[in-house]
Amino acid sequence: MQTPGVLEKFVLNLLKKKNPDEFLEQSAACGLKKTLNAFDLIILGISAIIGAGIFVMIGSAVIGTTERVGAGPALVISIILVAIACIFPALCYAEFASMIPVSGSAYIYTYATMGEFAAWMMGWVLMLEYAIGTIAVASSWTGYLIKLFEGFPFLPECLKNPPVWLVNDYQTALASNPDAVVPHFLGIPVCVNLPAMFIITVIALILLKGIQESANFAKIMVFVKVAVISLFIIVGAFYVKPENWVPFAPSGIKGILMGAFAIFYAYIGFDAISTAAEETKNPQKNLPIGLIGSLIICSVIYALVTIVLTGMMPMNSIDLKAPIAHAMAFVGQDWFAGAIAIGALAGLTSVLLVLQFGTTRILYAMARDGFLPPVMKKVHPKFLTPWVITVLSTVLILIGSLFINMQVAAELAIFGTFTSFVIVCIGILLLRKTEPDRPRPFKVPFCPWFPIIGIIFCSGLMFVALREVKTSAMLFPLWLIIGIGIYFMYGYQSNRKNEKLKLQHLSENNSESNHLSESVK
Ligand code: ALA
Repeated sequence: MQTPGVLEKFVLNLLKKKNPDEFLEQSAACGLKKTLNAFDLIILGISAIIGAGIFVMIGSAVIGTTERVGAGPALVISIILVAIACIFPALCYAEFASMIPVSGSAYIYTYATMGEFAAWMMGWVLMLEYAIGTIAVASSWTGYLIKLFEGFPFLPECLKNPPVWLVNDYQTALASNPDAVVPHFLGIPVCVNLPAMFIITVIALILLKGIQESANFAKIMVFVKVAVISLFIIVGAFYVKPENWVPFAPSGIKGILMGAFAIFYAYIGFDAISTAAEETKNPQKNLPIGLIGSLIICSVIYALVTIVLTGMMPMNSIDLKAPIAHAMAFVGQDWFAGAIAIGALAGLTSVLLVLQFGTTRILYAMARDGFLPPVMKKVHPKFLTPWVITVLSTVLILIGSLFINMQVAAELAIFGTFTSFVIVCIGILLLRKTEPDRPRPFKVPFCPWFPIIGIIFCSGLMFVALREVKTSAMLFPLWLIIGIGIYFMYGYQSNRKNEKLKLQHLSENNSESNHLSESVK
């Protein structure tokens, strides 16, 4: 056989896949118990899905921002569009997760179908969804915390009306109030979103100690947020004035599409269900029910919230920081605004838990595969959690929260998620070709059409948005370029080194066994 040339070898290395069986062996070694049923998966989905999107981003999806137009009351159509767009990738996730039921999600699926380079890029893009998404949710947390404080008249003024530089990132602080007195340290202006940094740190500490303890806490938070949203829909419905729905779509189709892009944030997180595949009973049945079930439940909730919110007040009176609580205050139900703030804080906290957990576990999987320095694989001897990666990623997220504003963080997370959905749909098409006989407990119906429709929907929405949202449309390719740089500077080399070590190890073992058999003779 002819030995491959340098270029050919390089390309072969980039495309080097991991056999799905390797992942399965790894996971079998862990021997996790299969205890989750469809209901548990739906709860997990809702806990990851309902958060900043519906409690905060809905405001800018209706009104728009300086960079993009809003949908107006027609956001309800955007919500239906996004729900449909998500169903196709959700089915693809279900097929992958039932076939390779290991945690690590889209990163693992890409490694199994498209090889090393694509896997690294997928992991890197997932960091937009999880790590940068954390910044968006944590900033929203600050907004609702202040709303909660406002509901208690006896609290000191500094809590109800804190200095701008203590509750915003640098960009937002200066944009929202150019005259804000920003203190300087060593000549550098200081702006810290203190509550956001606080909650990110608290969640990181919980994760360091182990997620198990927080599972019940997460269930209670899901219950609180769903109860509060349901109450908002019921109470708010009494204040709806149909004239507020006119004009229904002030920015036409473009507004509806940009609204779909913005509200997509509210759907991020359902893919987290696939990470529980390893622990699911009867995954071929329960995974699709969990994925599609939670999508449908959240879509119905989102559509009702949108109809009520846009009916309660004229579009331009909708608040951008805490729109749901503000709507209640707008109709004179101040006590209820306070209750909503509590529900929103619970909801946002549960989403943060999922996003920060996802960040650490995906990075850990990447470190285990040699894409990151070995020190990052270190597991805490007592808590058995990946402590180095948890501390490091938290510090980076905290630094990011100083500079990236909520809208930009959310838009970057949306771009990252769209990209991962498209890649997962492509992965299904590829694996159906390369491994048609691999057992698939769940199969995407109407393949290849459903994955193809998923690719068209998600990439179409992404391209429409790329032309509108200037800042994030510039930062997204920059993020990809940085990812490519890191891969070639570290990941590529380290994988080659690991391969050499493995070969050496193998040949040492071989010569040892030869030696043994010689001596037996
Ligand atoms: N879907 C999640 C949220 O809305 C990320 O916060």
